[in-house]
Amino acid sequence: MKLLIVANWKCNPITLREAEKLFDSIRKGIKNVKNSEVVICPPFVYLSLLVSQEPSSVVSFGGQSCFWEEKGAFTGEISPLMLKNTGIKYVIIGHSERRKYQKETDEMINKKLKAALKTGLKVILCIDNISQIPSFLRKRGGRRGRSPLRLKKDLSGLVKKELSNLIIAYEPIFAVGTGKPCSVEKANKMRILIKKEVLNKKIPILYGGSVNFQNAGDYIKKGGFQGLLIGGISLNAKEFIKIVKDIDLN
Ligand code: 13P
Repeated sequence: MKLLIVANWKCNPITLREAEKLFDSIRKGIKNVKNSEVVICPPFVYLSLLVSQEPSSVVSFGGQSCFWEEKGAFTGEISPLMLKNTGIKYVIIGHSERRKYQKETDEMINKKLKAALKTGLKVILCIDNISQIPSFLRKRGGRRGRSPLRLKKDLSGLVKKELSNLIIAYEPIFAVGTGKPCSVEKANKMRILIKKEVLNKKIPILYGGSVNFQNAGDYIKKGGFQGLLIGGISLNAKEFIKIVKDIDLN
């Protein structure tokens, strides 16, 4: 299976011109990669335009969120069906920034997850661990663990078959956008724990949180992750391309 390298541009850049420039540089820079699938998740306003500029399918696209309904009176929302119909393959759901700023609850995330999977999108479900990994591991021994419970809640009501389009991204809050990545060892422990919690053991698990050129390869080689979810550095075409190429070659 190909490694998955996902660029989450978040609320950047602020002009279409910059978005096109960034996209074009990335596309050219990664056109020869063989072992990885690169997914770009730009803000919605740029999404369909960038899709139309990418006939060769060197990169795939993802939305940064979606609603749970197909259509209707839901001002400001984007439906999973709209994403699908625009040629988008992936969607990120449950990102910690949406949980924080849009107050998305586990219940909302569960509805979005189900709707997106039913639409046929590949879902990158983000989960975090706000405590440190060791304390999180301790919570598993019969005590109420926040993240495993959250995860189980997010997955409730889905059958195994529908989970084949699910990807989980472990994004510890302390590492997201802080420049303080989770150590590969701790991330690996969390990865193993997630594997034990999910119904379908084949679900790929990505790491996200302060990924840079220095640490990116280690999460794959030493940490056993099947890919990366990259924020800040994905806005720097040169650095992002370096990461993709390095991972693809090694
Ligand atoms: P950073 O890579 O900027 O830490 O962001 C990670 C992230 O939130 C990706 O979804």
